[in-house]
Amino acid sequence: MTSQNIGIFVTGGIAAYKIPLLVRALVRAGHAVRVAMTPAAQAFVTEGTLATVSKHAVLTDHNEFAQPEHVAHVALAHWMDMAVVVPATANTLAKLAAGLADNVVTTTWLAFNGPKLIVPAMNDQMWLNDQTQANIAHLQAQGVAVLPPAVGFLAEGYQAVGRMPEVEVIETFIDTYQQVPFLAGKKLVITAGGTRERLDPVRYISNDSSGKMGTALANIAAAAGADVTLITTAKRPVLPAVTVQNVQTALEMQAAVATAFETCDAVIMAAAVSDYRPQTVSAHKLKKTSPTAGLTLTLAQNPDILAGLGAQKTTQLVVGFAAETNDVLANATKKLVSKHADLLIANRVGVGVGFDQETNAVWLLRPEQAPEAIAEAPKTVIATRILQVLATMMG
Ligand code: CTP
Repeated sequence: MTSQNIGIFVTGGIAAYKIPLLVRALVRAGHAVRVAMTPAAQAFVTEGTLATVSKHAVLTDHNEFAQPEHVAHVALAHWMDMAVVVPATANTLAKLAAGLADNVVTTTWLAFNGPKLIVPAMNDQMWLNDQTQANIAHLQAQGVAVLPPAVGFLAEGYQAVGRMPEVEVIETFIDTYQQVPFLAGKKLVITAGGTRERLDPVRYISNDSSGKMGTALANIAAAAGADVTLITTAKRPVLPAVTVQNVQTALEMQAAVATAFETCDAVIMAAAVSDYRPQTVSAHKLKKTSPTAGLTLTLAQNPDILAGLGAQKTTQLVVGFAAETNDVLANATKKLVSKHADLLIANRVGVGVGFDQETNAVWLLRPEQAPEAIAEAPKTVIATRILQVLATMMG
């Protein structure tokens, strides 16, 4: 993913109040962002907020003649690499489908000839309305990419389809939109997050893994055309094309992976699986036995899921990670061999490094090949490189 000039077009739905967060995330990821908004959007979010977070003046119907030396909507269309209408109301969808040009959003859209994305958000009945669906189908037939609304709590006070997807999902949708389908037809199983090993109904043993790397792999793989099952302990937003199975413990993860493994082309164990679990899980909250006495826990060893897959694989490729605090390459090479992995991604972990960070720096290790270093980059970039290497290995 390279940095892009992104045009964000805000229209008049309540979800517009979340757009400053999207703009800020895109700017933080290195993109240049310019915003245009309809008069209706100005009822939900201010021009000043969007100008501040995008670091550029916002184009509105009121200021489009502020610099008469430029035709403002044509200049913006010329500057952009990509146009994203978010949130897109039913009204704006209808205008875009019909080719109307009555405000700065619709005129810029018509003047722009590059990649176009739409993120609709509206009341469920308005979304499900035949006319809205026909407008969406018409725009898709013109090559416009649509991120469908999520099911969730609507402004109307009930759960239904129509909610704008989380900012993180929209950002991923934008990041992954131009992935070439280099994994088309491939079936991938990806694990993510740290397992939680229950001690009692309210306590567990776990680790600092956030699931960001595994989720990035799942999103990029789906955008690259793969059929993706994400088996995860982390509740992170994913693209609609990713099938998610939530698990908690290493044993649950092992069972879910075993079911999906037989028919997949590759499995990527990005999860930080706890090596041990409490030998017994208390049905009730553990109580202190005295004001001063300590507590000794007996832990049982969890199965090594990756090593099990390495021993059992037939046509599948098996990919693992190695989280190391020291001697990264030497320790990771031992894991590559002992777990019979086809590819192992080694990374350093520690306080502020690796786990729960936006970026990572890794080495890719393959049997009998020199390690390939990938310098520090956002996890989506690292994920793309890992998946490109995997795609080459799958042929
Ligand atoms: N892994 C696994 N099952 C386990 C432990 C780890 O499948 N019980 C997988 C992880 O998903 C990762 C790889 O093995 O892909 C390496 O995990 P890591 O935590 O780095 O190493 P461990 O094998 O647990 O070894 P150690 O803790 O001794 O470093």
